[in-house]
Amino acid sequence: MGACENPGDLVRFSVAVPGELLSQFDERNARRGESGNRSEAIRDLMRASLVRESLRTPDEQVIGSLTMIYDHHTGDLTRRLDEIQHDYTHEIVSTLHVHLDHANCLEILALKGQGARIYELADKLLALRGVHHGELTCAATESCLDV
Ligand code: NI
Repeated sequence: MGACENPGDLVRFSVAVPGELLSQFDERNARRGESGNRSEAIRDLMRASLVRESLRTPDEQVIGSLTMIYDHHTGDLTRRLDEIQHDYTHEIVSTLHVHLDHANCLEILALKGQGARIYELADKLLALRGVHHGELTCAATESCLDV
């Protein structure tokens, strides 16, 4: 069984986040007219994340882009990013790297290949410590291109 008796029961859990992140999240909710119910906003984000996950198509051909923002000073992050990418040379079609400021880099990878490999690559890169923002957007699949 999961974390509760009945699947629909509300469960309280505590989460540690930087204060600045929480302030920005509250401001975002206020802009959307959702202020005052932080829990509902977090529930929405959790559901959206699960829906995105369910749309993964590991057996299909996928075309997409992976966007990352990271601080290149973080440990051996750049070496690890490099090492992982060298294992996916068939999937990475092109890379764009922009030095945003003294610390931060923006990197965009154009990807093409079997879904399972693309998602595996994205998961590995985005899990690295120091990658602040990362998002995989799948632009199309083989079935879309047939149209
Ligand atoms: Ni850079």
